[in-house]
Amino acid sequence: MKFFADTADTADIAELAATGLLDGVTTNPSLIAKSGRDFMEVTKEICGLVSGPVSAEVVALDHAGMMREADILRKIADNVCIKVPMTIDGLKTCKALTSDGTMVNVTLCFSANQALLAAKAGATFVSPFVGRHDDNGFDGMALIADIRLIYDNYAYPTEILVASVRHGIHVLEAAKIGADVMTAPPAVIRGLVKHVLTDKGIEGFLADWAKTGQKI
Ligand code: G3P
Repeated sequence: MKFFADTADTADIAELAATGLLDGVTTNPSLIAKSGRDFMEVTKEICGLVSGPVSAEVVALDHAGMMREADILRKIADNVCIKVPMTIDGLKTCKALTSDGTMVNVTLCFSANQALLAAKAGATFVSPFVGRHDDNGFDGMALIADIRLIYDNYAYPTEILVASVRHGIHVLEAAKIGADVMTAPPAVIRGLVKHVLTDKGIEGFLADWAKTGQKI
């Protein structure tokens, strides 16, 4: 499963990229606002930090406006992936852009039928928001399982990008279901390495090593 960082914080992205575990980045207008930086400038910087896809979201709601914005965004770098909302205009834009060889991420997906539409529109990625789904009393991971089943039924190449990931259980369940990608805040990705028994084990080994008086 590919790991994307869901952030526009370039320091966090650089640190995660240095581990070799980062396959891409997703941003959205809220994350750009949180960074306090210029959209074009920060997106360009992120595209230079990772070689994988970097999702940059359009804000227009009509097809012509989305195409105009996408045309500006896709010139930033070759690894820009245009993020469009799950609307008729978003799907129309997705079809036009992917037919032209541009990567597209259809975002704000909350049902398996919406994911089916994204696949039919040729989306590179579909982003079901599992955390927000859970927050509203639905089962986010059941949605991922349904989408996996449907995409496998028809061999759709659209990648399932599990978004709105809040904790390690989301990551674990996404991997068990066979999602293609998960995007999570850097703190969630860093948290995956932590285990109390790992820390305790290191502490014990180092204490015993000190007793030997040896050096490597
Ligand atoms: O980038 C889209 C998605 O991951 C947002 O997550 O935590 O705002 O629901 P969240």
